[in-house]
Amino acid sequence: MSLKQMLEERALPPLRPQEEMVELLQREEYGFLPPADAAETSFSTPKTIEHAAPNGAVLSEIQMTVQNTHGSHTLPVHYLSVPDGKKHPLFVFLSFSRATVNRYYPMEMLAERGFHVLSFCCTDAVSDDGDFSNGVAPLLLPGGQKKGDDCGKIAMWAWCAIRVLEYGLTLPETDAGQTAVIGHSRLGKTALFAGMMEPRFRYVFSNSGGCAGDSLYRGNLGVRGEKGPFGNTGETVSAITRVFPFWFCPNYRRFAGTNIPETFDQHFLLASIAPRFVSVAASAEDDWADPVSEQLCCLAASEAWEKRGLPGLVHRDALLTPGEALLSGRVAFQLRAGAHFLSYRNWLWDMDYMELHRDDAL
Ligand code: GCU
Repeated sequence: MSLKQMLEERALPPLRPQEEMVELLQREEYGFLPPADAAETSFSTPKTIEHAAPNGAVLSEIQMTVQNTHGSHTLPVHYLSVPDGKKHPLFVFLSFSRATVNRYYPMEMLAERGFHVLSFCCTDAVSDDGDFSNGVAPLLLPGGQKKGDDCGKIAMWAWCAIRVLEYGLTLPETDAGQTAVIGHSRLGKTALFAGMMEPRFRYVFSNSGGCAGDSLYRGNLGVRGEKGPFGNTGETVSAITRVFPFWFCPNYRRFAGTNIPETFDQHFLLASIAPRFVSVAASAEDDWADPVSEQLCCLAASEAWEKRGLPGLVHRDALLTPGEALLSGRVAFQLRAGAHFLSYRNWLWDMDYMELHRDDAL
């Protein structure tokens, strides 16, 4: 069966004008991103903590303080840079760990290829649970979630990632035209949301964002251990809202009954990044995120680029086999062998993707 036929079977809602999709996804899924001036953000002078990486690269720590009349919160941000007087591309990396030595972060490899990275740990910004009284939450959403479209934790992490980008853009060594946001899993969802909301991110990398990230809902109706009508076993709205309702706005829970948000599917999120660059990384054994629904999501979103005369996902009309990556369009898709993970292989493809499209006009 051709990929087009596979997509037709899923009967997706057609893409809408970009402003409508951006509004809809905030209202129905993630909640509205707090405005940039919801709180003031300041950054301390970087303090070097390590000279360990190659190229004379330096790892430093910066304190980011967010404050307004509701209070103040400070979190550490790490900065990996190669101080050679030249401009470098910059990743804003949403991390699961405050420790920079962690298995998702091949720091030396990034430094060796000349990439700068500003990273922070999501739970240093705000806890990954239903508590809206810690971190930046009481500053961005005083009193917690009250309305159906009040933002959840994904939008709060994204708000912080955008502030970190703004800091990066003040640094003379940042190549302002080569900025990226990257995250894995729940932070892949966050990278996509941040990328949709912030046009200064030229590249958006979702690593196994899965349900409510880079995977389609339609056609992905299984629950763990049970095959859905399309043979998939992926995560559903009911599963994700049962365990992680706080990532989203309260309105989103309305879709838990049918598992199908009537007015949208996740190709809206990818399409809202056009004409910039978005890359989805899936892994072959990740049934929960469903690599087939991730590839089809990329394909369905591509129309947003194609109608602008730009290439979306450039493919050969077949599901990828593990180890393959489609990097030549403005929508990229990578399929890594193995399990749900952010591996050095993904970072390599991501850096290749940025280098390949360095000079493409937006
Ligand atoms: C759970 C959740 C996923 C999420 C993942 C993660 O598996 O169901 O939606 O992507 O956690 O963030 O690790």
